[in-house]
Amino acid sequence: MYNGDSAAPSPGAPEPLLKVRNVSKAFGGLRALRNVSLSAARGKITGLIGPNGSGKSTLFEIIGGFQKADQGRIEFNNVEIDGLPPYKIGHLGLLRTFQLSEGGERMTVLENLLAAVSGQEEHRLVRFMLRFPRVMREEAENLEKAKDVIQLLGLRREANEYAGNLSGGQRKLLDLGRVFMSGATLCLLDEPTAGVNPTLVNTILDALKVMNLERGISMLVVEHNMRVVSEICEHVYVLDAGAVISDGPPEAVQNDEQVLEIYLGQDRTSAE
Ligand SMILES: Nc1ncnc2c1ncn2[C@@H]1O[C@H](COP(=O)(O)OP(=O)(O)O)[C@@H](O)[C@H]1O
Ligand SMILES: [Mg+2]
Repeated sequence: MYNGDSAAPSPGAPEPLLKVRNVSKAFGGLRALRNVSLSAARGKITGLIGPNGSGKSTLFEIIGGFQKADQGRIEFNNVEIDGLPPYKIGHLGLLRTFQLSEGGERMTVLENLLAAVSGQEEHRLVRFMLRFPRVMREEAENLEKAKDVIQLLGLRREANEYAGNLSGGQRKLLDLGRVFMSGATLCLLDEPTAGVNPTLVNTILDALKVMNLERGISMLVVEHNMRVVSEICEHVYVLDAGAVISDGPPEAVQNDEQVLEIYLGQDRTSAE
């Protein structure tokens, strides 16, 4: 029997970066989330798994401020964020990966990365006109950072390619790169390796590890590939029909009988 969030802070333990408490959401008569509680630890990668339709993306939408919960509380870095608009949540350092917008497709990989730097967008014209030394220095630093991210993502040859011409997998890498450029402290990644060929899966895995271990970025990741989950996640939550049914280290969760049951009969690739 599942007894609730085992990663909830115990006395003396460091406070989690993200705390989701008793979040529920219904779409008409469909209860997409039922009293969901989970935590994402500071400096760690936390996993979220579960069959299709179990509510993973809905939870991400709610955390990011794109949907409103019917009930529940969400705290990020000790700030209550439920009810805040996405841009405010983003400014606090919590971002999710985005599909490329129309504009993004007609920018190069390098330009996309530079545009993702937080605070750049609204001040672009002012920044351009007032070439203060500080601004110049920041821009030089951002360029260095973008080159670093390009190297890390293995997109060196594509740096000056229009994003619209990238393969599906390369776009996923660029999506990741944009989140990393933004200075986020917590990234929400919804299926970062879905539909990506095995070589690129490894590139994405390595990039996630570097971003986490070397840059200290915390992550909450929805992922179907259990190899990826086992390799990068410290702690995993399992959603089924909108409710958390299990949580713990990946090895423990994978051997949980209730979890095995819901994955049994599913497409083998999702439990690999
Ligand atoms: N905007 C919406 N309107 C109505 N139903 C939705 C909406 N978003 C998600 N749902 C439903 O909520 C359930 C959970 O969906 P989702 O969060 O996308 O699951 P997952 O990401 O785990 O596959 C599904 O039954 C889905 O059809
Ligand atoms: Mg989904």
